[in-house]
Amino acid sequence: MTAPIPPSLNGRRDRDPFWVAVSAVFGGIHRVRRLRQPVLPPVRPVERDLAMVVREVRREAADVVSLRLAAADGRVLPAWQPGCHLDVLLPSGRRRQYSLCGDPADRRTYRIAVRALPAGAGGSVEAHGLAEGDALRVRGPRNAFPFLAGERYLFLAGGIGITAILPMVHAAARAGADWRLVYTGRSRTTLPFLDELPAERVTVRTDDVDGVPDCAELLSLAAPGTAVYCCGPAAMIDGVRAAFPAGTGSTLHFERFAPAPIVDGKPFEIELRGSGVVLPVPADRSALDVLREAVPGVAYSCRQGFCGTCRVGLVAGHADERAVSDADESGLLVCVSRASGGRLTLDL
Ligand code: FES
Repeated sequence: MTAPIPPSLNGRRDRDPFWVAVSAVFGGIHRVRRLRQPVLPPVRPVERDLAMVVREVRREAADVVSLRLAAADGRVLPAWQPGCHLDVLLPSGRRRQYSLCGDPADRRTYRIAVRALPAGAGGSVEAHGLAEGDALRVRGPRNAFPFLAGERYLFLAGGIGITAILPMVHAAARAGADWRLVYTGRSRTTLPFLDELPAERVTVRTDDVDGVPDCAELLSLAAPGTAVYCCGPAAMIDGVRAAFPAGTGSTLHFERFAPAPIVDGKPFEIELRGSGVVLPVPADRSALDVLREAVPGVAYSCRQGFCGTCRVGLVAGHADERAVSDADESGLLVCVSRASGGRLTLDL
């Protein structure tokens, strides 16, 4: 931009010839610069809500299938990094998160893997019923478990937790980092993707042969200054966190499949605006769990405060917001939020 030309230096309101000349010179330079700048195509917003089709279903372990998904219109897919997950909207309307476990360089397909949980809420069983050609919608990819550049890694994967860890392992190998993976599970037949891992850097520990792993022993494999990435069942995460040594310069990064236990929760009440029903929420339960008993159709997915599915309008009361993301949106994430005292009235 060129500056506005000031009035005449001798005090008259007409423009001073000196400044007119200066402005002409700089204005010309500015125009030439603009002409020399490359013309960039307009930035297209990244498409985050995609219609997909199942291209391949593979059995990867006793109760695990992988699904390879492609855009329904064949387009190139948004880029992703190790640690990213997809929000998958299943045909029933259930929304679930699955880690991307394929190759980030493959921009035509995404791979996810699902362990069947017959006693779960139905999402995993439904995903196991998908077949080639079935249509799905997905949102993302989103990254709640970023993988940071480093020189030394210890990866700890428990069962289906390998899905988040697998692309990190390959990225570390490609980068020439010093890495090691401990992969745990009930038995070898329950561990997906074993054939995609280089055996020389992987230690497999299964409950049927080695017993339940000792987290302090697993962490003893981390030399000082190691980045430890852990994904697995809640007991594994909690055990690793509790045993993680302080003062070694090592760092711990983890992702849960299941909600973290409620710590220091206080009881409170929720009132449903539509019916006036008041529900007590005990100190050790979430508002979502209590709500689901009274209103079975309440939508939810991650139960950890990052997907936004359980967001409900807050009509009255003061909430202790614990959302992990999307903090700019209004409403309450009932899976993690609690009242900072008294009662919350929800728009239900
Ligand atoms: S269920 Fe995902 S934010 Fe509540």
